[in-house]
Amino acid sequence: MFKTPLILVVEDEEPNRDLLQAMLRHLGYDVVAGCDGVEGQELVEQHRPDLVITDVMMPKLNGYDFCNWIKSHEETRIRLIPVIMLTGLNSLNDRVRGIEVGADDFITKPFEHTELRARVSSLIKLKQFTDDLENAEEVIFTLALTVEAKDPYTRGHCQRLSEHGMDIGRLLELPAEDIQAIRRGGILHDIGKIGIPDRILLKPGPLTEAEREIMRQHPSKGEEICQPLGSLAGTLPIIRHHHERMDGRGYPDGLQADDIYIGARIIAVVDFYDALVTDRPYREALSQDRALSITYSAAAEGHLDPNIVDLLHEFVTAVGVGWLYIE
Ligand SMILES: [Fe+2]
Repeated sequence: MFKTPLILVVEDEEPNRDLLQAMLRHLGYDVVAGCDGVEGQELVEQHRPDLVITDVMMPKLNGYDFCNWIKSHEETRIRLIPVIMLTGLNSLNDRVRGIEVGADDFITKPFEHTELRARVSSLIKLKQFTDDLENAEEVIFTLALTVEAKDPYTRGHCQRLSEHGMDIGRLLELPAEDIQAIRRGGILHDIGKIGIPDRILLKPGPLTEAEREIMRQHPSKGEEICQPLGSLAGTLPIIRHHHERMDGRGYPDGLQADDIYIGARIIAVVDFYDALVTDRPYREALSQDRALSITYSAAAEGHLDPNIVDLLHEFVTAVGVGWLYIE
């Protein structure tokens, strides 16, 4: 079931490279090897190794730049690969620079077998742990999309919320953490509906007061589902507060105005507008102008954030029907 961990060795000096490969194979790992940073980049993309061990001084692309490339890569699976740097001298400066570019550990040449084994095995364990967490995150995202798929009328809704929520976040020049929270919040905001019985969730007619009460539990249920995953911490306020209202008459906490996290206010506006411009069981999609005017009214009534509605207006005028293309 468990695959043998794969280690990438990048070292320009052949004897060292061969020795390292032999030692790692002897420890039971699979190994691929390259002789400079550029080849290292190709091998990382091709094999997605579980650990990279790289020399510092190499032709074409040195070890610092190679490590920096891994750690700033846009794809999380590559960014999270641990990197060990081989330092020729036990120099403090080399290590400080290595830490600056994100190296996880250092090994001094010539390698000592016990040290190599200990450092490699602890970083491989760490990588397996982050992989497990990432898999858990994938399960939660899949679960969220399963909830969405129950209702054919909401197809593509989460994806649009995620994409257009981020677009509006960028117009507001929000920091990267907030944009990331919005990306995840768009997909996960209604995940708590997994705990709502289908007879209520899919009921064609209006809900009774008791049913509405149950339906209103979905934000807190969603928060409970996602809470154990530390990486989703920034997204929890969106999941919990996407049904709050600016005037404090929303749920579950009755927060007001700026007390509601900005990401939740954005998702609330995009969610509201998206429901209007898509077909529903009880009516066809409304035109952009009609939907915008209803959204403005909702802001005037104290439901939605008026500044975000202005930005939404600006955004939909720019993209036009592009809104519906994400499915
Ligand atoms: Fe919701």
